[in-house]
Amino acid sequence: MGNVDVVQWMITGNCNYHCSHCYLGEDNRTEPDISRLLSDIEYFKDYGIKKVVLTGGEPLIRKDLGQLLRALFDADIKVTGIITNGALVTKELLGMLRDFGNETTFSISYDGDETHDIVRNFKGAKEKTLAAFDLCREEGFETASDMTFYKGNAENLRESIKTLQEYGCSSLKVSPLIMAGNALKGNQLKMLTPSEVLDAFCEYIPFYFVDNIKMKVFLSAYFYGDGQNGIWDIPVERFKMYVDDCDKAMCAKEETVPFLYVDDRLLPCAGIAGVKEARESMQKISEGGIEKAIKSSGYMNFMGYTLSEHARFNPECKECGYLKTCMGGCRIIAGIEGFGLHGKDRYFCTYFKEGYLNKVKAAVQLGKSLAALG
Ligand SMILES: C[S@@+](CC[C@H](N)C(=O)[O-])C[C@H]1O[C@@H](n2cnc3c(N)ncnc32)[C@H](O)[C@@H]1O
Ligand code: SF4
Ligand code: SF4
Repeated sequence: MGNVDVVQWMITGNCNYHCSHCYLGEDNRTEPDISRLLSDIEYFKDYGIKKVVLTGGEPLIRKDLGQLLRALFDADIKVTGIITNGALVTKELLGMLRDFGNETTFSISYDGDETHDIVRNFKGAKEKTLAAFDLCREEGFETASDMTFYKGNAENLRESIKTLQEYGCSSLKVSPLIMAGNALKGNQLKMLTPSEVLDAFCEYIPFYFVDNIKMKVFLSAYFYGDGQNGIWDIPVERFKMYVDDCDKAMCAKEETVPFLYVDDRLLPCAGIAGVKEARESMQKISEGGIEKAIKSSGYMNFMGYTLSEHARFNPECKECGYLKTCMGGCRIIAGIEGFGLHGKDRYFCTYFKEGYLNKVKAAVQLGKSLAALG
């Protein structure tokens, strides 16, 4: 058995929506036939993979989903998550998942109280999404959510988080809009600058405590609140433990879930799906299985990337006093933004150089003091 026990699996590139922000664009609308997916399951079994998270495209659009769920059940592989826009969640689907022994968490994307339909480019999308949260709750399925953060929904963050809490959502990840695919077309959605994103997060954080939010909230890697247990944390600070040794691979491996792209290539994480050149440097699992794809040079270029290598190729980071805590940030964000594998991640750079570590801590203290005052 290998080190990986869960894979995020893009079972289709097709979708019922054409979202204004979709980083996949319109060119990936292909769907592998069921025989390819069934042979992927054989590779999962060979490697010892026990869990999958289904994604797309829109994973629920597949007509043969029942057949796929049965094959996963026969292979003793659980569907631990489904990432969906929510529009196609039905009672029948939930019944089928349950019958096949799955305790699936539905990650239903939600892009803001006032802006969901604009982002989704579909009138009535918000109602469908909220109905999916309700249905999952009624049928006993846990829900989580992902929100794409941009100029339009920044000022509604507080209200949108309250809405998700009302609908029983257990956890929300807020991630800045990536300018790729449809987001580059039509100029509909305006991106925030890194300091605008970080300022908006710092503005929101006190309300997390004042509003007594019980839902887990991740504001990208810069704040994590676990209202249930009263814990909060700054995830970027945790990353540095991976690089005490500058020649050790620096990506937070334990937190990384490989992503099986629609063309059968195994990617080290979902973010690479949006970077064509990096994506195409990865190997297909049909060319020799998962172990071989993980050991291929494309995969290892990312997963074996060390801090020494980064410093060698990036003089600005090499000279920087924050190098050992910041590590130049996320390689994928640098890649998506066009700075290449050795580029710097503008968000991390702004975070460290412009004092946001202390600003986030101050926002937490303010929130806690206000909450204590009632
Ligand atoms: C590609 S979708 C696939 C699953 C499903 N169709 C959905 O929309 O949830 C996966 C996630 O990527 C997010 N996403 C798409 N384009 C994005 C972009 N340009 N920037 C940031 N997140 C994006 C979506 O909002 C969704 O949460
Ligand atoms: S973000 Fe999801 S729902 Fe929207 S077009 Fe892309 S795959 Fe479809
Ligand atoms: S703060 Fe900026 S220059 Fe310094 S290591 Fe991070 S990305 Fe590089």
